[in-house]
Amino acid sequence: MTSRSNDEKFTILSPGSGWHKPLRSTTLEKVMRAPNATSRFSSIPRRLGIAGTVLFAAACAEDKPLNTFEPRGPRAESIDTLMQPIWILMGVVFVLVIGVTIGLAVKNRVAPEDYDENDLPEQVHGNFRLEIMWTIAPAVLLAIVSWFTVDKIWELEETNADPAAGECRTNADGSRSGDLDMMVIGQQWWWEYRYDIDCDGFFQDVDGDGDIDDADREWPLNIALDDDDLVVANQAVIPTGEQVDLVVTSRDVIHSYWIPRLNGKRDTVPGRLHTWSIEADAAGEYNGWCTEYCGLSHARMRMSVVALDGAEFDAWLDNQILPAEVPTEADEDEFAGYQLFQQLCMSCHVIDDGELDYAEDFEAELAAGAAPNLTHLATRTVFAGAIYSQYAGVDADDDDLDIGEYFELSVDDNDPDGDLRLNEAIIKRWILNAPDQKAMAPEDRRGMPAFPQLTEEDLDHLVAYLATLD
Ligand code: CUA
Repeated sequence: MTSRSNDEKFTILSPGSGWHKPLRSTTLEKVMRAPNATSRFSSIPRRLGIAGTVLFAAACAEDKPLNTFEPRGPRAESIDTLMQPIWILMGVVFVLVIGVTIGLAVKNRVAPEDYDENDLPEQVHGNFRLEIMWTIAPAVLLAIVSWFTVDKIWELEETNADPAAGECRTNADGSRSGDLDMMVIGQQWWWEYRYDIDCDGFFQDVDGDGDIDDADREWPLNIALDDDDLVVANQAVIPTGEQVDLVVTSRDVIHSYWIPRLNGKRDTVPGRLHTWSIEADAAGEYNGWCTEYCGLSHARMRMSVVALDGAEFDAWLDNQILPAEVPTEADEDEFAGYQLFQQLCMSCHVIDDGELDYAEDFEAELAAGAAPNLTHLATRTVFAGAIYSQYAGVDADDDDLDIGEYFELSVDDNDPDGDLRLNEAIIKRWILNAPDQKAMAPEDRRGMPAFPQLTEEDLDHLVAYLATLD
């Protein structure tokens, strides 16, 4: 290969301007320095404008259901008191580091006309004092942060009672004297909640040795679990001002349970029982999101916990433990829907009509396993893994909304103002083709199959029946 001059290497092919002629390096420099689209964005006011817009837009969210900085329960508040000083510390470090970096860059910049590529800055190799300083300082900061963090983890851990080992919390007359025990079971891709109402724990004596012990807990979940308690799906309801002790686990893969405004997160692991607790100071709906990647619809596996004040909670509970009423033939649409439901849906879902006999059959469960229990479906404000609102006409995120009243309305068909109505279109769309709206693998019993054979009339009947499940 023949060697070429530097100039020849920068040959720019440009038809119409003597494309065959090599460009001289001076020309190239001019081209590179010419004002172009990028340089217009480099003006300081423009950059400030863009940064300001981004910050402003980021602060615009109207309702922030997942905001950890607005704790609504003692445990979340406790975490918040740890996080606030850490954020301030992080802010100071951030401003210092970025400030010094920008300051040095500005101080040492060279005007383009003074730029000389041979004019290198002073070459420094090692500075013992500086290196020791920027090694020790972050180490000390991290040590301080981890000291308080580990302390907080222990503190939160100590507030967890083990519901499996706890004393009975229900009085002989059925009233509750203490905290509520609840089991949280992660599913692909929704949450199941079991309430230990009768205080006999979450498990049953599978091996029949007269004791509910670890041997019983080792059975698969769908056999080992006690079934005479309340089983609900997608939305848990808790009393305000009371610690609710949780046992969290999973039926399939690892999920993570997190209601940011009530407590930190807890992984739900198949075969393991983790204790946790939540508590809400005030009535309202508290949302969460599965925070451990769990397959196809991880992003659509939400949580909804509704806190109700004492009497409202008791009313909710009294209603939930009732079996579902079976429509009579006189209610034509509802009855047709009921029959359709028995044919199509009961192989996966459970609706407790009071006829299930658990004593005779361990498999006759309130929870079907992979599909939600729908006994009081119409009392829930969300469905489909809490991604859809079951009712239209009421804004559940409205801070002024009386959540207890909302619940009463959804429990009671006699909505006096007529402004609460089932989101029929969304429910029908879901029944017709759920996999179209939420990625699933129904062939593996993970998720719900589509029912393309259903007519509009069938859907009307099904919705009429589902609406009776209050
Ligand atoms: Cu469940 Cu991610």
